[in-house]
Amino acid sequence: MKRVRIAVLPVAGLGTRVLPVGKTTAKNLLNVVDRPILSYIVAEGRAAGIEHFVFIVGRGQSAIEDYFDYHPELEALLQAKGKTEILQDLQNELARPGEMSFVRQMQPLGLGHAVWCAREVVGDEPFAVMLPDMLMDAKVPALVQAMQAYDKVGGNLVVVEPCPQGQAHKYGIVALDGHEGRLNRMTGMVEKPPPGTEPSNLFISGRYILQPEIFEVLASQDRGAGGEIQLTDAMVRLMQTQAFHAYEYDGVTYDCGDKIGLLRANVAFALQRPDLAPAARNAITELLG
Ligand code: G1P
Repeated sequence: MKRVRIAVLPVAGLGTRVLPVGKTTAKNLLNVVDRPILSYIVAEGRAAGIEHFVFIVGRGQSAIEDYFDYHPELEALLQAKGKTEILQDLQNELARPGEMSFVRQMQPLGLGHAVWCAREVVGDEPFAVMLPDMLMDAKVPALVQAMQAYDKVGGNLVVVEPCPQGQAHKYGIVALDGHEGRLNRMTGMVEKPPPGTEPSNLFISGRYILQPEIFEVLASQDRGAGGEIQLTDAMVRLMQTQAFHAYEYDGVTYDCGDKIGLLRANVAFALQRPDLAPAARNAITELLG
């Protein structure tokens, strides 16, 4: 079985759920505590053995590339002031040479289209897709868990989790061939099912491992839910010839593409930081009066 080395990160979304700030700031550069959401996603990918990240970016998102690059003026200033701790932190955030590619998605045609834009960079090998809006907090990073499950079954794998009551119409929902333990074979999936028609209570939560044949399917994929080219629809077609498993991961997901989700992530991650937790706790208690 070929090792999964590449992760595709679709970040070109217009950030309509986080306006007005999303107008000029790529939504995945919004901060959770003191670093952008993307910093956590890249750390999760690296923990899972990802060697190359393919960012699918839109217009006006060059700040993403800059974030992972040197900033010589800033670094010189910190050096001169002896601020070695923050300097080291910045150093850890840098891309390793050749670790990142940036592909422009010229029109926001949907997640399926975004993933298809990565085809020339990914080539003929299995790859991961990480939806950066979905910040996953887990003792064993979510993609590491997904890789361990993939090592058992191969094929295509979709990370899922229980869907909050009444929310299934916002997500991709999977259908399973029996539900036992965390890893189950899938029989179908549907993107944004009308309320009451969802085939299970498990939604696709933002990490995938896919075989390269998905690109051929995506090349001829029609528009689906919301008038967008949906990755879910292409996966349903690929399921006719390849196996798909759903893996229910162990952790908590924060949807940072949503204002309250981002706020929750900030509170949760601040409370986990030894250097910030006591002050964060005091501030929250005080605000709650
Ligand atoms: C996308 C996927 C969907 C998945 C969701 C998770 O939808 O198409 O299957 O459940 O991400 O956030 P979007 O959020 O782009 O509408």
